[in-house]
Order: sequence, then structure tokens, then C-alpha cells
Amino acid sequence: MSDIIIALDGFSSCGKSTTARHVAAALHYAFLDTGAMYRAVALYFHRQQVNTADLQAVKEALAHVEITFEFNPSKQASDTILNGENVEGEIRKMYISDLVSQVAAIPEVRHAMVAQQQRMGEKKAIVMDGRDIGTVVFPQAELKIFMTAEPHIRAQRRKLELLQKGEDLPLEEIIENLRKRDEIDSNRSEGPLKRAADAIDLDTSYRTMDEQVEFVLDHVRRVQGEK
Ligand code: DC
Repeated sequence: MSDIIIALDGFSSCGKSTTARHVAAALHYAFLDTGAMYRAVALYFHRQQVNTADLQAVKEALAHVEITFEFNPSKQASDTILNGENVEGEIRKMYISDLVSQVAAIPEVRHAMVAQQQRMGEKKAIVMDGRDIGTVVFPQAELKIFMTAEPHIRAQRRKLELLQKGEDLPLEEIIENLRKRDEIDSNRSEGPLKRAADAIDLDTSYRTMDEQVEFVLDHVRRVQGEK
């Protein structure tokens, strides 16, 4: 069976990362959560108080950002490491969700992250989830899935996810964060969130995680059968 690249793009809180992780485990593929990389950059910029309007400051800061991943056996998933520090918990917090879209819209940030993502996918056999994987990072990906879900369902999922991590926030605040991020992510000039013309749609609103994973795996089998 030949190895392929699987691009899972779509809106926040549609279950992209969880689906991608399960698909990768089923296929013994690598998994890359590209949103975690933008979150790590946002955390670094926040801590260093980088003026995001100052291009030189952005470039200098980026030169000091090293993002790696480390497998965490207790979670059966990778943690995000920023300059040697495990920041997995920190980058999932709401204050980072509030900052990340602005940081991810900066072209220099995108160029640096996209270059690293392309290196990590060079050997294929990888599932990547993000916003621009099928359009910019790997436009030649053999399988592209575009995930959506109804806004109230996304907000409820996000609320539950934050609760499990100890953050109890009003649903309205979460809905507003998702709305703002969708708007910034979809309208930026560089690598906007956009469905690739050859992507397959997957609405996760009323599907279980198992069904979502099976949907993707069915398409993997189809693509591999065609090769
Ligand atoms: O998938 P996530 O919600 O953790 O992503 C966090 C933010 O990062 C999201 O608001 C948009 C940005 N992002 C991006 O611009 N490009 C990607 N490939 C992945 C995420």
C-alpha cells in the first residue's frame, strides 16, 4: 500500500485533531496538529510582548522559536514543545485562542510554519490538520477532507473540551471566540481557510467520532485502491 498525505482542513472545533489522531493511529501514520504550531508562536509572542505590527520584531522573534513534538504515552498523543518547554496545556487556554488568529494571519509567521510543515510531510505517511493544508502546504495531497459542523455544536464541543482542562467559560464567550476566529482565518490574505476545490466535505455535526474516522478511512482505502 503506498503512503499518502491526508489533509484535514476546516473550522475550529469540528473535531479535526481528534479525527486526525485516530486516523493516523489506524494507519500507523504520523500526525501533525498544525494549529498547535500557531498556538505556540502566539504564546511566544505574548510572553515576549512582540509588537506584531513591527515586521523586523516579528522576524527576530521567529528566529528564536523552535517548535517540536514529543510523544506523551499517557495520552497516546504528542505534546507541543516550545524552545524545550512543554507548553501543551498552556497553548490550549482561552487567552491563546483569543490571540492566535491575529498571529496566524502574519505572512512571515505563515511562511515559517508552512516550511516546517512541508519538511515534516516530505516522506508522506502523515495526517495533517489545519486550515490551509490542502490549499497551500500540500496542494498535491492525495486525500483532502474539509470538515464543518454547525456553530452551536462546535461551541458546545469546545466548552466541554475547556471544562475538561479546568476552564469553565460561558457559552456566549466561546461562540464569540469561534466567530471571530472564523472571520479572521477566512479573510486573511495569506493561506486563508478555504475549501480546496478537490476536497471531500465532512459535516461532523451529527456523526460520532468513530463514524468520522471510518469516513476518512473509507476514502483512504478508495484513494489507495486507485493508485
Ligand atoms: O486548530 P486550532 O483551533 O488549534 O488552530 C488555532 C489557530 O491557528 C486557528 O484559529 C487558525 C490558526 N491556524 C492556521 O491559521 N493555519 C493552520 N494550518 C492551522 C491553524
